[in-house]
Amino acid sequence: MDQASTRNAVVTGAAGGMGRAIVARLLADGLQVTGLDIDADGLAEMAALSGFTPMTVDLTDPQAIADAFAQIRPVDVLVNNAGTCFMSAFPDIPAAELDRQMAINFSSAFHCCQAAVKAMAGRPGVRKIVNISSNGAYNFDVFDPPHYRASKAAMDTLTKDLARRYAREKIAVNSIAPAMTETPLFGVVSAEVLDAAIAAMPHGRPMQPQEVAAWVGFLISPAGDIASGNVIVLNQGRDVR
Ligand SMILES: NC(=O)c1ccc[n+]([C@@H]2O[C@H](COP(=O)([O-])OP(=O)(O)OC[C@H]3O[C@@H](n4cnc5c(N)ncnc54)[C@H](O)[C@@H]3O)[C@@H](O)[C@H]2O)c1
Repeated sequence: MDQASTRNAVVTGAAGGMGRAIVARLLADGLQVTGLDIDADGLAEMAALSGFTPMTVDLTDPQAIADAFAQIRPVDVLVNNAGTCFMSAFPDIPAAELDRQMAINFSSAFHCCQAAVKAMAGRPGVRKIVNISSNGAYNFDVFDPPHYRASKAAMDTLTKDLARRYAREKIAVNSIAPAMTETPLFGVVSAEVLDAAIAAMPHGRPMQPQEVAAWVGFLISPAGDIASGNVIVLNQGRDVR
């Protein structure tokens, strides 16, 4: 494929459970992928993937994000996937934990969006931003703590703002909000809480990262060109009332 027709994607949190599946999906779909993650060892395990460029970046550092995007041009696709879930209980969540939760889950995506829309300028076709949110922003029966929920709700408001703001520039922006998906993030909760949350999944099993990545691939495919401003909930129908 020549340089003009190659589509370039940036995936944050690329070395994590969901990130690796998203990278694999986009590479299989023919995109060049730059993966940003703080986990240098995890990225090193992926370095041999054809079409993949690893970049070790702390996404809580806005300058580091700016420096990274200065090296990644042009950009056609951004997937804001980096995130974590801190589990301190309200009303004793330390101020520093709240700040870090918002920095990793929300501010990182905000800064990456600002850098990416500039790097998308002049690119052909419909450019895509996919934000990996969480079902935890909407389901108040599950265990998620309030700073995690709020970080994802903020992300989804950013999705809607940018979708509206850039509709005529043909940048489509959507959130995917998954429920229980089997990744290393499962380690943040106790075995009891995890078992109960998995038992509540209608299919009797957690979702797999590849299943979520398939939806990212769909949004990034031509079929996704006409969808923008949505929060797509993936949860096996768990919360339908
Ligand atoms: N696993 C689930 O059940 C689930 C459900 C809903 C939403 N999500 C969301 O999916 C996304 C991916 O999570 P996952 O389940 O793959 O977890 P994961 O822990 O396997 O992956 C998260 C990745 O983000 C990276 N990261 C964390 N802090 C970073 C920083 N400061 N700079 C750069 N990279 C950083 C980690 O190194 C890791 O590779 C997250 O945003 C998470 O909130 C996960």
